[in-house]
Amino acid sequence: MKESFYITSSQLTGDICPVFRKCFTISGEIKCAQINVSALGVYNAVLNGHKVGDDVLAPGWTAYGSRLQYQCYDITPLLKKENELQVTVGRGWFSSPMPGFTEGEEKNERMNCQRALIGEICLTYEDGRQEILRTDDSWEWACSPVLFSEIYDGEIYDARLNPVAWEKASILDWSKDILIPQEGEAVREMERVAPKEIIHTPVGETVIDFGQEVTSYVQICLPDAKAGDQVEFLHGEVLDQQGNFYNDNYRSAKAHVLYTCRDGAQTWHPQLTFFGFRYIKLVQFPGTPELQDFEAVVVYSDIKRTGWIETGHAGVNQLISNIFWGQKGNFLDVPTDCPQRDERLGWTGDAQVFVRTASYNYDVEKFFTKWLHDLAADQRPDGGVGMVIPDYLPDGQPSAAWGDAAVICPWQIYRTYGNPQILADQFESMRKWVDYIGSVTNTKDLWTGGEHFGDWLGLDAPSGSYKGSTREDFIASAFYLYSTDLLIKAGKVLGKDMAEYEALKGRIRTAFSKAFPEYKTQTEHVLALYFGLTDQPQRTADELAEMIRAAGTSMKTGFVGTPYLLHVLTEYGHSDVAYDLFLREAYPSWLYSVGKGATTIWEHWDGIMEDGSFWSTDMNSFNHYAYGSVADWLYEKAAGIRPLEAYPGFMRVRIEPVTDKRLGSLEARLQTRSGLICSGWKYIGDAVRYEIRTEVPATICIGGREQEVMPGNYTFWA
Ligand code: BGC
Repeated sequence: MKESFYITSSQLTGDICPVFRKCFTISGEIKCAQINVSALGVYNAVLNGHKVGDDVLAPGWTAYGSRLQYQCYDITPLLKKENELQVTVGRGWFSSPMPGFTEGEEKNERMNCQRALIGEICLTYEDGRQEILRTDDSWEWACSPVLFSEIYDGEIYDARLNPVAWEKASILDWSKDILIPQEGEAVREMERVAPKEIIHTPVGETVIDFGQEVTSYVQICLPDAKAGDQVEFLHGEVLDQQGNFYNDNYRSAKAHVLYTCRDGAQTWHPQLTFFGFRYIKLVQFPGTPELQDFEAVVVYSDIKRTGWIETGHAGVNQLISNIFWGQKGNFLDVPTDCPQRDERLGWTGDAQVFVRTASYNYDVEKFFTKWLHDLAADQRPDGGVGMVIPDYLPDGQPSAAWGDAAVICPWQIYRTYGNPQILADQFESMRKWVDYIGSVTNTKDLWTGGEHFGDWLGLDAPSGSYKGSTREDFIASAFYLYSTDLLIKAGKVLGKDMAEYEALKGRIRTAFSKAFPEYKTQTEHVLALYFGLTDQPQRTADELAEMIRAAGTSMKTGFVGTPYLLHVLTEYGHSDVAYDLFLREAYPSWLYSVGKGATTIWEHWDGIMEDGSFWSTDMNSFNHYAYGSVADWLYEKAAGIRPLEAYPGFMRVRIEPVTDKRLGSLEARLQTRSGLICSGWKYIGDAVRYEIRTEVPATICIGGREQEVMPGNYTFWA
């Protein structure tokens, strides 16, 4: 690839996506043929009229300043004697105006970047000859029928147009040192969802309901259209109080598609962008739309499912479905906050909160390895980690619990999959983050000062603020200890001397106890327990349980406290409170959104309020996976499949289910690297039958009795 040139259009094409082409003739019997390709943008490659490979939105999103993936596809079956390769390049993440809510030099530069293609066609003949056709100025370019394509705003396509005026491509001078082979999971068309209903809204709109919030593009199929007919639609996640189309919460993202037909039968979908939605509003459509004219093509990283949970409670089962859909919808090459509004960014805090659940639901080792390499690549010279990775907010201050993703994510990936390589890869980045905190804090051995997101969206936030009432210095210092602790553990796995950090950890612990002798909020209690900051854990846990009861058995925690809340309650003998919170149906609760018809996890517990009105358009995503992290409590505590620190990758496991009659039954299955582990329980009258199937040695703890077992199937009653 390094001998190929980046090629670009010889004239600026504005919004129109350029298409590049190479025509070539085969001079003998082909043994095999491959194309290696990448782009500054996202590409769609077509050879002799057939799509090359099944990746979409390639080359994916990386820290482009230092890392640009290329893909390799076998093209042997597509070759003929005379061949024409066409590759259309859209803005993608590379030159889209991201994020939509900030302006800045760096963003302007990015938007004005020339889209370009780089690649090589490698032909191997039966007689041993090799021929390599590298991108250079012998390739041509033209304007494609994609008149506009961009991550936030959508796509405009004119099927009447055919690239005709081919011109010589220009060479673009761009670093080739950044080229790396595909590292993450490819993004693919993973599922298809048929629409459920055509709705005619009170204000007279025609809206198609897919019945499920998806991250996708809609395929339209027109049996008979006339050249010049147009299909135009907008995407939305919810209907408003009156049942009309609504997408003000997309903020500046237009999420718009306009397709102009050619004559005859045709099937089309956008190629170089994606949308987060459940509904589309038809603005123009030739004739009367029918359900079969539409299909949502669901795209996400090709991750393999490894976790299943099913209970005897319909609402909880819907919640679990919402968590899985939330992950699918936000694991499109980078773990994103949301797939719809003018963000869709790799928010580090959200990823950190969700990584454990994510790693049980699906095999995300490769997915996170790539993203963590990007995190290290975009880590600032002083060790600071940006709010989003790839770092499209370079002026943003590193925040506690967000930057800590640098440490928490690799550690979790190691724990789930047992492969120390991720720690070896990330160790320097982890260490730099911990050192960074030490270099910016106002108080030695704590993290005070700085700009933080606090307990983001905490329900104890003072009016008008998104930040809960938990003290920011408390959160930052608690995470300082936690990250130092995980760094030490990682260092030990790698056989490093961690004495210096062990001493630091001791000092942070002491300083913390002095600075924060008491805990004021629910989240402060949760962190003190989960990070081992309290000397009297049982007392702290009892206080937490009382606070929750005093608040009407209601949580006040935000992004920082919620993921650990049910874990600590269960650990310290308050599983009744944990279950009360988990099974609560009134706002705020996991099941409230289910009652309101959610099909993914919402950003706010009350994204749609009791009366059907919305949170402000400011920040109201209906596909934000963070609170879906409750699934790791279901796997680890409710089903009781508890990983043991000394046995990463579930080589050995403790199984200690925690039941609740209101759930009726629960069955969780985890396909781990060491084997399948299933834990289920079911109430039969007042008795509980436990069914355990483990392919790894386990300690089973039921009804207070512990038992060491070898792989096998076990039934217990209690
Ligand atoms: C994102 C969040 C993110 C937060 C940081 C929001 O706009 O959507 O999920 O973590 O900003 O405060």
